[in-house]
Amino acid sequence: VPKDSTHFGYQSIPTHAKTPRVGTVFHSVAKHYDLMNDLLSFGLHRLWKRQAIANLQLEPHHHVLDLAGGTGDLSSLILKKLNEQGRLIFSDINDSMLNIGRNRLLDEGFVQQFKIVQANAESLPFPNNAFHRIIIGFGLRNVTHPSLALSEMFRVLKPGGRVIILEFSHPRSEQLSRCYNAYSFNVLPWLGKMICNDEASYQYLVESIRMHPSQEALKMIMQQAGFEQVDYQNMLDGIVAIHKGFKF
Ligand SMILES: C[S@@+](CC[C@H](N)C(=O)[O-])C[C@H]1O[C@@H](n2cnc3c(N)ncnc32)[C@H](O)[C@@H]1O
Repeated sequence: VPKDSTHFGYQSIPTHAKTPRVGTVFHSVAKHYDLMNDLLSFGLHRLWKRQAIANLQLEPHHHVLDLAGGTGDLSSLILKKLNEQGRLIFSDINDSMLNIGRNRLLDEGFVQQFKIVQANAESLPFPNNAFHRIIIGFGLRNVTHPSLALSEMFRVLKPGGRVIILEFSHPRSEQLSRCYNAYSFNVLPWLGKMICNDEASYQYLVESIRMHPSQEALKMIMQQAGFEQVDYQNMLDGIVAIHKGFKF
């Protein structure tokens, strides 16, 4: 990738153009986002999210940051585990996604315990050492500079705190890879066209997953950002991975 350019799926684009392009994708898919997740993953994203939350090891009084929180799936699971002292910041860069998430969390009866913050994960409007736990689910691969976002997460995490990154990753078996590729490159854009009238966004989704660093590479990027005891757990042979890291 030439200097001052970056990838947007398989395309090379000027670095400054990536965040707005990703914005266009999520403004476009927001309305159908939840339905598409269920269809495309056969409902499995719900299990992956539960597993990620289990890895977060929440305590009821924790102050938690859900980054790139989208329509609030992870935030909803987190809020169910917090007591009156617990606090959640539900954050995303995209107001179309946040609006759907806000209505959903309010409909579920959560009022006091969460705040909504529209922010870019690369420059977080929070003081140092603010959160016991941070989670980012299927968000990091959309961020223009993932290492910057990780440094910011490290900065705002309290010492003793834990970060969880739930993200698509790279399947280990050749055979599974072939089936998964055939499914992703054929079915996903087609369903995107049928349901959202937007093939391009789902083509981006598929390509961005391939451009995202491998399990080991992401582990190293997390270590470079300062995280310690970094480790990961593969799900579905690595189609999805949960990375965790600590700040001491
Ligand atoms: C695939 S969705 C994931 C939403 C939710 N976490 C989930 O697991 O269902 C990715 C989200 O990342 C957000 N996003 C993209 N770039 C971002 C950035 N630079 N900072 C914060 N959020 C970003 C998008 O707006 C979108 O809502």
